Amino acid sequence: MTIMAAGDSFYLTTPIFYVNDVPHIGHAYTEVAADVLARWHRQAGEDTWLLTGTDEHGQKILRTAVANDTSPKAWADKLVKEAWLPLLKTINIANDDFIRTTDERHERAVTIFLQKLYDDGYIYTGEYEGFYCVACEEYKQLDDLMETETGDYAGQLVCKIHGRPIEVLKETNYFFRMSDFEQRLLDLYEKQPDFIQPESVRNEIVQFVKQGLADLSISRSSFDWGITIPWDPSHVLYVWFDALLNYITAVGYGVDDEQFARRWPATHLVGKDIARFHAVIWPAMLMAAGLEVPKQVFGHGWLLVGGEKMSKSKLTGIAPEQITDTFGTDAFRFYFLSAINFGQDGSFSWEDLSARYQAELANGFGNLASRVVAMVTRYFGGVLPAASDYTDADLAVQRVVAAATSDADAAIDRLAINEAIAAIWTIVDELNGYITIQEPWALAKDHANRARLGTVLYTAVDGLRALTVLLSPVIPEATTTLWRALGAELPLGALPAQVITDAGRWGQLPAGSVVTPLEAPLFPRIETVEP
Ligand code: ME8
Ligand code: MG
Repeated sequence: MTIMAAGDSFYLTTPIFYVNDVPHIGHAYTEVAADVLARWHRQAGEDTWLLTGTDEHGQKILRTAVANDTSPKAWADKLVKEAWLPLLKTINIANDDFIRTTDERHERAVTIFLQKLYDDGYIYTGEYEGFYCVACEEYKQLDDLMETETGDYAGQLVCKIHGRPIEVLKETNYFFRMSDFEQRLLDLYEKQPDFIQPESVRNEIVQFVKQGLADLSISRSSFDWGITIPWDPSHVLYVWFDALLNYITAVGYGVDDEQFARRWPATHLVGKDIARFHAVIWPAMLMAAGLEVPKQVFGHGWLLVGGEKMSKSKLTGIAPEQITDTFGTDAFRFYFLSAINFGQDGSFSWEDLSARYQAELANGFGNLASRVVAMVTRYFGGVLPAASDYTDADLAVQRVVAAATSDADAAIDRLAINEAIAAIWTIVDELNGYITIQEPWALAKDHANRARLGTVLYTAVDGLRALTVLLSPVIPEATTTLWRALGAELPLGALPAQVITDAGRWGQLPAGSVVTPLEAPLFPRIETVEP
């Protein structure tokens, strides 16, 4: 076993998704962003752990199951097996764990956590009278609601987010003393300014907490699909309290202290729709239990369709396979992470996707790779020539490669994924320009230029070597193919084993490596656009 320094641990989570329906590209977006970050940190040599999973309790799932004439557990099992686990394959997610809130390990640790809060006086019995939105699984204030004038629910109070009627509740529930933590939360936001990111989300949450925090109702007794309250079996736990705990129950809270100490605290990647649960309720829960708060909560933007947040409930959801079946998994990952400023909203369109696919992946990167590999095959029988006497143009390539590596790594540290890809793409542009200017095909015409031709092709190939390593977290399939074509595996080892922060160090691929032509373009031309 290797002992890692505390700073070397990187624990990243996605939200656990509701299993009332199948995934759409919004869920896939969070997953690929998390996966790229996790792959990057793993390749930087950190002790990385990526957790994802499903949120299976509560009224939303219960009602879906009833509407489908089945039990909530049977419904969840079916959706996890047929939709949520396959999603991870469709978009090539290398998660380390997958937690379901119906897992025994989760329920057991939740019970331990609850009992502790109860014993320590953070939970009391109270009367809840107010509104509840089942689609949000959230208690609502009047501000969160509106009266609709048209449509199916005309004249009714509906939730501003889902546009669906809300429930009016009057129940005796257990309450969590969340109001006790108002000042400690504000102190946290102030002392640790990057606790909530981006800035827009942070500001909104600070404003919200400054208006004052009420205690939170954390149990329900009118239905039973949830984790039983340990001291009162007539109540089940509020689904968000249950769900948030997945981040610690999955890494051994209450059961495996060594694992817990090694992983926790986490960086939470979520959509901005649920940043408040993660940046207010969750740290308050952790403070009450005497645990460390998360390292960071990052609320990314929404994918918009026709200017509105894409969602299952509004029937604007696009299935990830609609894109991957035509463009492939790598293109899906590349497109959403490069075309949208991570942290801001972004509009999806088929036109934009196909234009970027063609310009950036097929023409920019794919073509570059094919040409370079083909020239080594044609002019040197596939044996990588040695470089000699680097010129200014060659050294410029080396500088771009080194700068791209450190700039991309710095961007990843800020979770600025699109900026990291832009930094890496400077290598694509530099190499394409370099080849145009150096004209290896012209050099090849005269044997007197043999040494220069070797230097030019070595420069192109070692530049591609660095590019392949840096792009591997984003487009793992194409880069694996290219790594083999470059003949890099034999001298340097497998692609995922390359230290990404070292990719910019020049000259790693030894002369004499065996380069083989690409049998097919990495990103073939696509004829049909919209399925
Ligand atoms: O909220 N654009 O689950 P959920 C970008 N179970 N991301 C989107 C998106 C869009 N249009 N639509 C959804 C829940 N997402 C709870 C979470 S965590 C302890 C419990 C992504 O199935 C985004 O990550 O409604 C968002 O936060 C999440 O899906 C909501 O998924
Ligand atoms: Mg939702």
